[in-house]
Amino acid sequence: GAIPVLCIDGPTASGKGTLAAALAERLGYHWLDSGALYRLTALAAQRAGLAVEEAQTEAIAALARALDVEFQGERVLLRGEDVSADLRTEAIGRDASKVAAWPAVRAALLQLQRDFRRLPGLVADGRDMGTVVFPDATLKVFLTASAEQRAERRYKQLISKGVSTTLDAVLADLQARDARDMSRSAAPLKPADDALLLDNSTLTVEASVERVLAWWQERL
Ligand code: C5P
Repeated sequence: GAIPVLCIDGPTASGKGTLAAALAERLGYHWLDSGALYRLTALAAQRAGLAVEEAQTEAIAALARALDVEFQGERVLLRGEDVSADLRTEAIGRDASKVAAWPAVRAALLQLQRDFRRLPGLVADGRDMGTVVFPDATLKVFLTASAEQRAERRYKQLISKGVSTTLDAVLADLQARDARDMSRSAAPLKPADDALLLDNSTLTVEASVERVLAWWQERL
């Protein structure tokens, strides 16, 4: 049969990355953090001196097609350079969400994402893993949490990194990003028809992992 794929899609700061990484670890599977590819594209544009605007769509899509990326556990290498920290900034997150709205960039990254599907299996997290990239996935989970919960988590993360911001600013930014992800015509953020919904507003990471693993056992 096909190589198993477990998709975790959901809005910004819903905890997809944490959940996906834990599941990949538990199952001994590969992990695709698809958001990192959009962030890498934004970073590559920044380094090439290209402004993230409509007029640069084709030039930035060309950068996406030529991405020289390697994932080493938690580390992301761009042309051999560790750019893990550069990818996580708010500015790159905003630019990533802009380039992600362009069909040419999404098309450029499609095959690269599918190439992550290797034995023994893959856990993939993002916005369109279940709807576009892996429509035949074994299990699709749509992870949500209230905007306030998500803003609070992201706020704490930023503060602990020494970034100075306010909860209101974080909430506003997160809502703007959600709106852009949901309203774009190319692969908008929405649950696949056959996705199982998981609201983790009041769940610990461990409880979320156990819930998804139970679903996974039923599917295999
Ligand atoms: O998940 P993360 O915040 O790293 O993703 C960065 C941006 O990339 C998101 O705001 C979203 O607009 C975009 N993205 C996407 N499709 C994915 C993953 C991320 O459009 N599968």
